[in-house]
Amino acid sequence: MNHTDLKTRVKTLEEEFKWALDSAEDEAGLEAVRIRYLGRKGIIGDLFKSLASLPAEEKRRIGQELNRIKHTFQSAVTSKKKTPEKRAATRIDLTLPGDPVEIGTYHPITTVLRKIVDAFHRMGFTVAQGPEVETDYYNFEALNFPKDHPARDTQDTLYVEDEFVLRTHTSPVQVRVMESQQPPVRIIAPGRCFRRDTPDATHSPFFHQVEGLCVDEGVTFADLKGVILNFARSLFGSSMEIRFRPSFFPFTEPSAEYDFSCFCKGKGCKTCKGTGWIEISGAGMVNPKVLENVGYDSEKITGYAFGMGVERIAMLMYEVQDIRSFYENDVRFLRQF
Ligand code: PHE
Repeated sequence: MNHTDLKTRVKTLEEEFKWALDSAEDEAGLEAVRIRYLGRKGIIGDLFKSLASLPAEEKRRIGQELNRIKHTFQSAVTSKKKTPEKRAATRIDLTLPGDPVEIGTYHPITTVLRKIVDAFHRMGFTVAQGPEVETDYYNFEALNFPKDHPARDTQDTLYVEDEFVLRTHTSPVQVRVMESQQPPVRIIAPGRCFRRDTPDATHSPFFHQVEGLCVDEGVTFADLKGVILNFARSLFGSSMEIRFRPSFFPFTEPSAEYDFSCFCKGKGCKTCKGTGWIEISGAGMVNPKVLENVGYDSEKITGYAFGMGVERIAMLMYEVQDIRSFYENDVRFLRQF
């Protein structure tokens, strides 16, 4: 063997030995490997013999390397002999059945979002989207929130920078859609929202809403009620009742909050706090100021808008008592849906 061959051989030796040792399945196999590499006429011995032909300097260097390898091999063989159970563990039984692949499910919030989107699709609404990091203009200003409105207080709003917020509701999508098209508009906008809230059974600092907006000539509050009732019953069946209560939002006039009847039928439960009604969100006729902000003719055009808390609907649908269970990622909870 010439000089370069010898060097390459020494390099590949360790890799090759390791493979041989791993494949040895029993005492006899292990002994065979030992003899092949470390025996009197073994590979290492042969390599030591070929050193004779090398110049003195190389002889010393490669000789040392071979010695080191020899010792490593010896102790590897000894330790494998001492721990026979480890040998068994490295064997692969190709006849064993594989690990079962677990099939996941949709997250309950995703399922409910899809049901909501489906229900509105059937009523002719299309889906619109907007960013989760929103400008102050779209989240507040264009929606007619005066500069000193309490909802702009940092208590409720998570600011990214002075002019950028994590959107506190999906209503900014109303403005984005109206800016980009002329009436008629009939959209829903599902998405995630954020508020600076301490988590408890009914509050989470992030949650989902679905915004609805319908703008055209001659749209009335009666249309709003009809759409909400139709929606509630298509999701929960014909015994579902709804009610509207007067309220205030800067971007709707008049404004209301609306409730769905609770699954406890008023007997009194934790979810409805004994009232028999579960608050879903706000709604109302689009404030003419908002229509003017997007350049619509508020003399000719009217519209309604509504919001919807997706977690609340999911809690109602699945009789979930604590909003936090949706985000704890406990599979025992999530597998039930
Ligand atoms: N954006 C309001 C909220 O988050 C709800 C709402 C939507 C009210 C549309 C009126 C019209 O509370």
